Amino acid sequence: MLALSAILTLLFLCYLVVEFVKLQRKRQQHPPGPAPIPILGCLWQLKFFRLDRDILTEVAKSHGDIFTLWFGQVPVIILNGFQAVKDGLTTHPEDVAGRPVTPFFQAMANNKVASGIFLATGRTWRNQRRFSLMTLKRLGLGKMNLEYQIQEEARHLVETFMNAKGKPMNPSFALKLAVSNVICAVVFGHRFSNDDKTFHHLLEAVEFIFKFAGSLYYRLYDVFPWVMRCVPGPPKKTLSCCESVCSFIRKEISIHQSRGTSEEPADFIHCYLAQIEKSKDQLKPAYDEHNMIQSIFDLFLAGTETSSTTLCWALLYMVAYPDVQAKVQKEIDATVAPRQMICYEDRKNLPYTNAVIHEVQRFSTIISIGVSRLSVKDTMIRQFPIKKGIIILPNIASALMDPNEWETPREFNPSHFLDRDGKFTCREAFIPFSIGHRMCLGEHLARVELFIFFSNLLKAFTFHLPEGVKEINTEPIWGGTLQPHYFEICTKPR
Ligand code: HEM
Repeated sequence: MLALSAILTLLFLCYLVVEFVKLQRKRQQHPPGPAPIPILGCLWQLKFFRLDRDILTEVAKSHGDIFTLWFGQVPVIILNGFQAVKDGLTTHPEDVAGRPVTPFFQAMANNKVASGIFLATGRTWRNQRRFSLMTLKRLGLGKMNLEYQIQEEARHLVETFMNAKGKPMNPSFALKLAVSNVICAVVFGHRFSNDDKTFHHLLEAVEFIFKFAGSLYYRLYDVFPWVMRCVPGPPKKTLSCCESVCSFIRKEISIHQSRGTSEEPADFIHCYLAQIEKSKDQLKPAYDEHNMIQSIFDLFLAGTETSSTTLCWALLYMVAYPDVQAKVQKEIDATVAPRQMICYEDRKNLPYTNAVIHEVQRFSTIISIGVSRLSVKDTMIRQFPIKKGIIILPNIASALMDPNEWETPREFNPSHFLDRDGKFTCREAFIPFSIGHRMCLGEHLARVELFIFFSNLLKAFTFHLPEGVKEINTEPIWGGTLQPHYFEICTKPR
């Protein structure tokens, strides 16, 4: 028995040595980086999966702003700092426009080829993305004006805050309801009432999926899928949350199908059903129900969590920096009539308010480490040859906090977006929506939402801490999006 375990240990040690030598050889084909070890790769150096922007910036100090980290046995190219992110994603944008299908993504796609927008690559992605962009644009025009819809939601939100009657409240759920209702109106053609239980369940499912995406479970799933598939708890619950959202989408589609078609484009589902009908005689139709469900899923998830989290940070910063809040309100009072609802066009006369919103996005860096990309062919990033099928991870936060680009990167400072005359000025390194061919599809919608919600809330209320509360925690909670810790604020109508 002793001899057997000695032999097994020896065999295992031999395996480790062989793997170590192989890894060192493979390393030569990628940009430099810390030495990986068998099985774990560089995970021990990342404090086991803490893909923190600062840890990556620390590694960049020793290995350069483009370096390789091994997640288990998988090499991942990290782009750190604005210049590296820009060079990596925009020099040959088509070559790095793929999305890696990691084991968990594969499970989310029910082990089928990835469909929709977010997870897809190649022809499927190109068609779904183009169609979705075109449709969002189309629905923003004419009767179903998106901006009008956002103003309506801003009105409901002001009402919700007013109903709290100045008592302490956590604004997170109210913001989620408001923001999500905008994307619901676009894709489903209707909004939900604030106390609709189905809507609440959907939003809870979205929140769980995003939390999981930033968790240790998710990272472990991608490195040890065969183990994690058997583990009960968060991975299984996330897949069931995805299924609940998809089954809701299916129901909405069948309601649309039973209603039949109309001339006017009413909503995203309506437009997609018409597109399926139009392309059904093609040899390999690009539009089908499977892609429709996944595209709607992508729009609903991305369109709910991101803008509402940013607005939550915005309110937290306003109580943390009351002088900034007062300056925004002074500008609004001097520019907008008391009864008027602020619209997106007003941003041109509200440069300080606009600068504050941009600074909220920069400073909160909600998508801290960007979304992974995949090289779809052999390519070059600067002097480094990158083989087809390599994962590339842009450290978006490192660009938004790059000391070469921002005067005071670690301070909340709206002057980053103002010129000497106090006029609004955007900066090239402002890339919260990422850059390149896969940059955020909802950027325009998000910008309009953030401006209209934020400015109308500050026009209606002054936000302050509950009595007796002196400390504010502005550190983020790690997750698929960086979230503020639980906090309560009070509203004082103006
Ligand atoms: C503050 C709000 C938002 C931020 C910071 C944000 C940020 C991002 C980022 C960083 C990406 C990854 C891009 C890449 O792979 O390089 C992304 C992708 C995406 N976003 Fe957003 N987003 C926001 C709002 C929205 C909204 C409102 C929608 C819905 C209309 C949306 C829909 C999408 C979609 C569908 C993708 C996938 C694009 C693709 O793979 O081609 N996002 N977003």
